[in-house]
Amino acid sequence: MKLTIIGTGYVGLVTGTCFAEVGHTVICVDNDEAKVKMLQGGGIPIYEPGLEEMVKRNVSAGRLNFTSSTAEGVQKSDVIFIAVPTPPLPDGGVDLSFIERVARDIAGAMTGYKIVVDKSTVPVKTGEKVAETIKRYCKARVEFDVVSNPEFLREGFAVDDLMKPDRVVIGVGSQRPVASMKAVYEPFKAPIIVTDINSAELIKHAANSFLALKISYINAVSVICEATGANVQEVANGMGMDERIGRRFLNAGIGFGGSCFPKDLSAFIAISQSLGYNFGLLKEVQKINAQQMERFLKKITDTLWVLKDKKIGVLGLAFKQNTDDVRMSPAIELCQRLQKEGASLRVHDPKGMDKAKSLLKNVEYVEDMNAVAEGCDALVVATEWDEFKKLDLERARKALTHPIMFDGRNLFDPEEMEKLGWIYKSVGR
Ligand code: UGA
Repeated sequence: MKLTIIGTGYVGLVTGTCFAEVGHTVICVDNDEAKVKMLQGGGIPIYEPGLEEMVKRNVSAGRLNFTSSTAEGVQKSDVIFIAVPTPPLPDGGVDLSFIERVARDIAGAMTGYKIVVDKSTVPVKTGEKVAETIKRYCKARVEFDVVSNPEFLREGFAVDDLMKPDRVVIGVGSQRPVASMKAVYEPFKAPIIVTDINSAELIKHAANSFLALKISYINAVSVICEATGANVQEVANGMGMDERIGRRFLNAGIGFGGSCFPKDLSAFIAISQSLGYNFGLLKEVQKINAQQMERFLKKITDTLWVLKDKKIGVLGLAFKQNTDDVRMSPAIELCQRLQKEGASLRVHDPKGMDKAKSLLKNVEYVEDMNAVAEGCDALVVATEWDEFKKLDLERARKALTHPIMFDGRNLFDPEEMEKLGWIYKSVGR
């Protein structure tokens, strides 16, 4: 099929590339000319395992094309996906101005029937607005259908999630676009749910908020574990073996971050409020997430007492492992809070250091994770990178003035650490 994706951010670029990989002909549109040039040359602006090779392969096969012209993208394809940012507003709502702008651009370029698919995460009822906008601005008066097709990819696992989705959600207002949408996803061999547009939009917000709730739940349980000497990982393992619950997203730590959960929670709370429902449960999820950071900081100050003039080594800057994304990263927030208390920092992240540099200033960026501890008073683990588990603990222990580690992601075994001579503090254990 001929498909166009407008917006080459995380969702747009990975979706477009995976569509090309399964044999569709794809045009990716972005208004950032420099980005388009980079992509045309086979370079990619983000780190995502497996993506760069896939982009190169499909560009050279002629199935993946990049342009800065929305009109070209609209005219050459029958199905147009919108994958532009929907950033948060100060009041917790969502800035839908990029979506509205693209809807107008599509409307202006349409010369025949098009299926316009929203892939960006949007509040319920956005599809209705997109349809109204296209109708209003389409001078050619051609027919079209708006479809909601939310994306569930996780950063760091985006290619895998796209190629092997748990489910594909297709929200439609009529039967006309259903066959084409099914044909787009047929090569992925995933279960397809066809529903109305409002339900499809809600599935996305409800799913992300539920996952955030699961994390806050285990973080709240971790507080009780600490008060009783229980071990939150054992509790999570025992809970997770119940298939109705599942073990995933039950890892306690310093809280969730990133450009999805915090934003989607606020947006879902705001849209619920505007529809007359006070979603108190989700407000509590936010509150627990914020408290988790405070509790971890208190652990550090309770042990180190005064942070002024102390040097702390921090492992992890990205908002989670396998990504270079530092937006809304709990690790960055933690670093900034430690700096505010007067600590100086030596930091390392396997992928996130370049992007962290604009957010986190006046710190020593250290290329080798095993060198971070040098001259420090304590070591902090802030991101759940698997490779931190391979840290040379003996070298780090000797390099620190005192062998103290605050593990915000529970990467090490408390008993082992004690045996090795560490003062080791983790979360909920
Ligand atoms: C999330 C969802 O998992 C995706 O399904 C969704 O498509 C995406 O948002 C989106 O809306 O675009 P993502 O933000 O990439 O994906 O990252 P997650 O893997 O969900 O992790 C989010 C945060 O939760 C990270 O800070 C991570 O460290 C934290 N987390 C995750 C925990 O603290 N504990 C856990 O058990 C799991």
